[in-house]
Amino acid sequence: MTEPAKLQLDGKSFEFPVIVGSEDEHAIDISALRSKTGYITLDDGYGNTGSCESAITFIDGEKGILRYRGIPIEQLAEHSTFVETAWLLIWGELPTKAQLARFSDLLTSHEMLHEGLYRHFDGFPPSGHPMAILSAMINAVSCYHPDILLNDMHNFDDSAARLLSKVRTIAAAAFKTSIGQPIVYPKPKFDYCSNFMHMMFSIPFKECEPDPDVVRALNQIFILHADHEQNCSTSTVRMVASSGANLFASCSAGVCALWGPLHGGANAAVLDMLEHIHVNKIDLKDYVAKVKDKTSGIRLMGFGHRVYKNYDPRAKILKAAADKILDKLKVNDPLLAIARQLEEAALKDSYFKDRNLYPNVDFYSGIIMRAIGLPVNMFTVLFAIGRMPGWIAHWKEMHDQKSRIQRPRQVYTGYQPRDYVAVDKRG
Ligand code: ACO
Repeated sequence: MTEPAKLQLDGKSFEFPVIVGSEDEHAIDISALRSKTGYITLDDGYGNTGSCESAITFIDGEKGILRYRGIPIEQLAEHSTFVETAWLLIWGELPTKAQLARFSDLLTSHEMLHEGLYRHFDGFPPSGHPMAILSAMINAVSCYHPDILLNDMHNFDDSAARLLSKVRTIAAAAFKTSIGQPIVYPKPKFDYCSNFMHMMFSIPFKECEPDPDVVRALNQIFILHADHEQNCSTSTVRMVASSGANLFASCSAGVCALWGPLHGGANAAVLDMLEHIHVNKIDLKDYVAKVKDKTSGIRLMGFGHRVYKNYDPRAKILKAAADKILDKLKVNDPLLAIARQLEEAALKDSYFKDRNLYPNVDFYSGIIMRAIGLPVNMFTVLFAIGRMPGWIAHWKEMHDQKSRIQRPRQVYTGYQPRDYVAVDKRG
């Protein structure tokens, strides 16, 4: 039994239980803090706040460890597929052969969009960002399948498969619309990732035959992005879900949170940065100096992480995967060389060493996506497809836990009471 935490406040002593996780993480349960003391906690950016208990993903940021349902990310990236990993995250165990086959069939049966949904794409301008389209379209799916709104857990398997399957159809259709090509329908003969490649790259007179190495790389990218415990977008999904919002509405909000450049949008920002350095022939020493200068407003994109204070294990896998896929596709990308040199320069520099800033998952993922032929504005969309199983798993976990609505408090710093002044009497 762990000793309770003791707090001295206003001359009084209070005790709060200590919760111990399965990896020996310790947390002080302050859920009764306000009712016992009248105080709340203030934790800018939630760096010290556990918002829930969760059994899905474990991260040890100091040691650079990431596990889904207890299984190391390195093993999943090497041996698993995205569909199998999705099952693992959502249902907690590796699927049996029969479960995996049934889930794959379910994904296939949901791969089409309602014809009415395809017409929505005509309403977006060609320059519309695919993340905006993705978020809007995920929400729109529920209009065509109203049973989604009921949050009936008897239909959860079906809803989860519907979302996971349709998200790649929507993503590919958004891409095709943006480049003015006809939308390509999915084909049931393909597995999850091959089908995505087909919808992205087939044209009416030439069907894309997905290269198995590219499909493997895509599987790896999706697996590595599939969950990352209480990050900004997952916390958003959980926050929205806590109000009772349906799975599609909650995950649509997750897409919006992921879009930002400090989160999933960083993969596109990394490529923009590398391109900028390459095109303008910027000396890397000068660039690193600029990044260290707080007045420049520039960060080294793809570096640093709230949780990892060591090399992000996903970046390690992707760095090796980038070498492999570029070699296989015979792509000689100068941006990969710049990325490697930039990493080397940063890792030697005391600014980065002192702050424990290492490459994160976004540093190398864009180089692989570019080699596969994906445009930069689709990078974060791919992140969203990959993250979908994690969001679905967290939505389910919240539902199973019958969690309360999430509603943080604040320390108010505005005006004290004052009177309304009529407009003609204001100075
Ligand atoms: N480049 C330069 N300096 C950085 C960087 C960076 N990429 N990241 C952090 N720092 C510095 C900060 O300026 C700060 O310095 P100071 O202590 O002298 O003030 C210190 O390191 C700590 O940084 P914080 O911003 O407090 O760290 P936080 O945990 O809030 O932010 C974040 C983490 C947002 C990921 C940050 O490292 C960052 O902006 N990185 C670049 C964007 C990026 O790659 N995002 C993807 C993250 S992974 C993901 O979401 C999938």
